[in-house]
Amino acid sequence: MNGSKKLRGAIIGCGGIAQVHGAVLQGLETAELAACADVVPQRAQDLAGKFGGHAYDSLQALLEQEPVDVVHLCTPHYLHTPMAQLAASRGIHVFTEKPPVISREQWGEFSNLETAKGVRVGICFQNRYNPSVRLLEGLLGSGRTGKPLGARAFVTWRREAPYYTESGWRGRWGTEGGGVLINQSIHTLDLLVRFLGKPIGVEATMANHHLKGTIEVEDTLEASIDFGGKRALFYATTAHCTDSPVLIELVCERCTLRIEEPDVTIRWENGDIERRTMAPAGGMALGKSYWGSSHALCIGDFYRCVLENAPFQNDIPSVADTMDLMLSIYEASRGTF
Ligand SMILES: NC(=O)c1ccc[n+]([C@@H]2O[C@H](COP(=O)([O-])OP(=O)(O)OC[C@H]3O[C@@H](n4cnc5c(N)ncnc54)[C@H](O)[C@@H]3O)[C@@H](O)[C@H]2O)c1
Repeated sequence: MNGSKKLRGAIIGCGGIAQVHGAVLQGLETAELAACADVVPQRAQDLAGKFGGHAYDSLQALLEQEPVDVVHLCTPHYLHTPMAQLAASRGIHVFTEKPPVISREQWGEFSNLETAKGVRVGICFQNRYNPSVRLLEGLLGSGRTGKPLGARAFVTWRREAPYYTESGWRGRWGTEGGGVLINQSIHTLDLLVRFLGKPIGVEATMANHHLKGTIEVEDTLEASIDFGGKRALFYATTAHCTDSPVLIELVCERCTLRIEEPDVTIRWENGDIERRTMAPAGGMALGKSYWGSSHALCIGDFYRCVLENAPFQNDIPSVADTMDLMLSIYEASRGTF
């Protein structure tokens, strides 16, 4: 590993989200973009031209020629686990975009990564760093709210056919691993797990309402999730007319807590209502608004934890329940599709 203060990062997959990773690395004092790679060489060259480093046409070529400390996996879903395995086997830290896996088989492989060679693995569930989420976690931890009794969550967004046809890995079971659940609403599912604890059962259905003939995966999914006596009702779709703010509402013993970014509303049992509009995390909003604004905080925290050998909150054990729930929802709903 590089012992200097600036870690050498590499971005693999230079499409949409890579632009955010590049901008974040450019702004971090603890990092520099040393290299990037894409099977479409022009994309790697463009990213390197914008944010620095050398361009390669594969992860393998990059690892053979470039000394790097951290690889950022911004590739299609099905590649995260094998690419993480390749980098980790060479002692290189891995920061992967969500979802880390698309199957139980991949989870078996991914969940054993971190033991090898002191490699650190981080998963980009950046919404855990949102100021609204921090606020709710603080309130729940303070005891003021009483215990959560249940929740509802809605992700109602719009994705048109070109979103799938222009990046052909999307919309296919083999490469995306699913649709609206594994891709757009996985962050919201992860937050439900953080707020409500370990899920113990789920019933679910899924459908393709508006992109029949274009995608083979679901564009809409609903689930009733049992968190040990607390039930969460979950609805996600990419068939809405626009990208509405995600809504998460927790009913607690003494109040109802509602996030509808960027607003947080707390309705207390005595009728008092508190409303707060949260500023973007770290003062920085990068990329599309529905990606949230916390990539910089999440990536910066990963680099800090690597340098200080400190625990990272988005490590492999921290996503185990979310990955199990996601895979369980697909298993529960497959017969309805
Ligand atoms: N955290 C978030 O909020 C967020 C937001 C958007 C996307 N993402 C995630 O980022 C990842 C990429 O999504 P995207 O929207 O940028 O996709 P994209 O299709 O725009 O980019 C993917 C890139 O990977 C490249 N690629 C494909 N196979 C490769 C290989 N074998 N080696 C190197 N490069 C390869 C493609 O050529 C493409 O440039 C996905 O996992 C997605 O879920 C996360």
